[in-house]
Amino acid sequence: MPDDSHALHSVLTEARIFPPPAEFAAKAHIRSMEDYRRLYAEAERNPEAYWGARAREELHWETPFRTVLEWKPPHSRWFIEGRTNLAYNCLDRHLEKRRDKVAILFEGEPGDVRRVTYGQLAADVNRLANGLKRLGVKKGDRVGIYLPMVPEAAVAMLACARIGAVHSVVFGGFSAEALRDRMNDAGAKVLLTADGGWRKGAVVPLKKNVDEAAPHIPTLERVVVLERVGQGGALGPRDVSWKALVEGESDVCAPEWVESEHPLFILYTSGSTGKPKGVLHTTGGYAVNVSLTTRWVFDLEEEDVYWCTADVGWVTGHSYVVYGPLMNGATTVLYEGAPVHPQPDRFWDMVARHRVSVFYTAPTAIRTFMRLGDALPRKHDLSSLRLLGTVGEPINPEAWMWYREVIGQGRCPIVDTWWQTETGAIMVSPLPGATPTKPGSATLPMPGIKVEVLDKAGHAVPAGKGGLLFIGRPWPSMLRTVWGDEERYARSYFGEIPGKYFTGDGARLDADGYLWVMGRVDDVVNVAGHRLGTAEVESALVSHPSVSEAAVVGRPDALKGTALVAFVTVKKGVEVTPQLEAQLCTHVTKEIGAIARPDVIRFAEALPKTRSGKIMRRLLRDVAAGKESTGDVTTLEDLNVLAALREAEE
Ligand code: PRX
Repeated sequence: MPDDSHALHSVLTEARIFPPPAEFAAKAHIRSMEDYRRLYAEAERNPEAYWGARAREELHWETPFRTVLEWKPPHSRWFIEGRTNLAYNCLDRHLEKRRDKVAILFEGEPGDVRRVTYGQLAADVNRLANGLKRLGVKKGDRVGIYLPMVPEAAVAMLACARIGAVHSVVFGGFSAEALRDRMNDAGAKVLLTADGGWRKGAVVPLKKNVDEAAPHIPTLERVVVLERVGQGGALGPRDVSWKALVEGESDVCAPEWVESEHPLFILYTSGSTGKPKGVLHTTGGYAVNVSLTTRWVFDLEEEDVYWCTADVGWVTGHSYVVYGPLMNGATTVLYEGAPVHPQPDRFWDMVARHRVSVFYTAPTAIRTFMRLGDALPRKHDLSSLRLLGTVGEPINPEAWMWYREVIGQGRCPIVDTWWQTETGAIMVSPLPGATPTKPGSATLPMPGIKVEVLDKAGHAVPAGKGGLLFIGRPWPSMLRTVWGDEERYARSYFGEIPGKYFTGDGARLDADGYLWVMGRVDDVVNVAGHRLGTAEVESALVSHPSVSEAAVVGRPDALKGTALVAFVTVKKGVEVTPQLEAQLCTHVTKEIGAIARPDVIRFAEALPKTRSGKIMRRLLRDVAAGKESTGDVTTLEDLNVLAALREAEE
């Protein structure tokens, strides 16, 4: 069970309730709690009828579906016999009315700006789609995408969707090793990359990483290289220049009308073992729920300039940078670089220059800006903002209040959206024109989503008490499987209580039914909004020749939410030095990426274990949270004494 330590703080802030601003509620898509309750009740009465109606409203179906849902736990199929195409829904549908409207407003880190209209985006997508076909990519083939945050990242995803290829985007911050493992698991045939991308004034060496990984990906036939930073070097025999590939291709490409359950993408995310899970999303159900939640939660209007700061390498980038806004015909901002480069007020400068009206970011970013002080945002005209969102980790009420007062100037509702890679779309969030908000709570479920907080035996826990967060019935944008590992899918998500999806989070519901997410209860940690498996970092550490054993735990951190603390024992004869500590950090960066670099490495003579040989992680979490590292080797005696005490208690 999660511990109730932030409960007191939350109870104190629960008293603060912020009703939606009246002028906002007057024109929102969902204008009142009555509207929300009516939709919620409609969905509860007959979930299938509710989702069927939403599916007909949200998408163009080339062939209508006949059956809304087939649920054979743990497998669901949605909108059966329907055929659609997501690129068509993002592009062609808008061309009549919005051909010249800006679809993607791009700003590179060096300051270059590009405005790509719906007309241009459709043409670019079709050219690349034709180019991919020329390379032999067929419906169902997997295509890797390892690109910076440039418009071509969206073009790549949409081109795959256009021809029914399955994309697998790998975050540009992942290392060559991490890329290799993901591409091998997906069996990628083609990989789309760039010579590099800009981050903090330096080049992220994407092509170099691809060159390292490619010889170890046997399924990989071709690598398509976009020129972004002008430092690509020579193309090898496997490589094709992006420019050369699309030049001369037609800007017309008929969409492949795929079955609703046709795979759309595989996105790797961390679980509680060392191997990341390939979360599979399919087309129709994902598209319906992403389209709907984008409009309802962000209350999109025709004139909005919408900016979600996530990278396309994460699910937020898939659903709320690319697919959701484009299905809704919105203008979506893409920013390539670091939030505080070259100046710490880069984000606020961009909000002011581009007149951003809806802004969606992570609590870790908000806390960073908060620490930098109010003067930076106050230097800029933020009057264009009308709605603010957060995602990725629990937001502490203090950061929530700062976001509201300093960034939103008390005027903008805040939507704290709870969801996961696996859920595909937002599950719990205020509807900005309807839901009164409480700082730190994601508030109420979307209509049709059955949120339950249960104990291990499956009984509902009383209001105000912590428990495990489940989703009690299927929803259209749920993951369909773990790619290539059905058994892991069934065990990880439906292994706790049959027929109910287990989120891995601990949470509580308050007396108003508001959800307070307390964080992960498994061996997954959320570091600066990035999801990591402690086991992944452990396997990276033990692959270093000096390391004998490693245990990695999270420690609460004021800025990152959670910081990574690694307990390491070294092999016989290895000397523990500051150099070794630095080497291990570099090694983890090489194996996974900088996001997984431990904040602290503590050397121990041995790791505390139960009599049956299991590492006592809870004990290590306490040790990590309790005292600062002295750089000394923690003695086995210290840990052993603690371990013995703990075992006696349990
Ligand atoms: O622990 C929850 C936390 O992030 C996890 C999902 O991570 P990921 O799959 O990487 O997706 C992140 C973006 C959707 C959840 O299990 N989380 C996400 N949003 C919130 C959150 N925790 C509290 N409040 C949120 N709004």
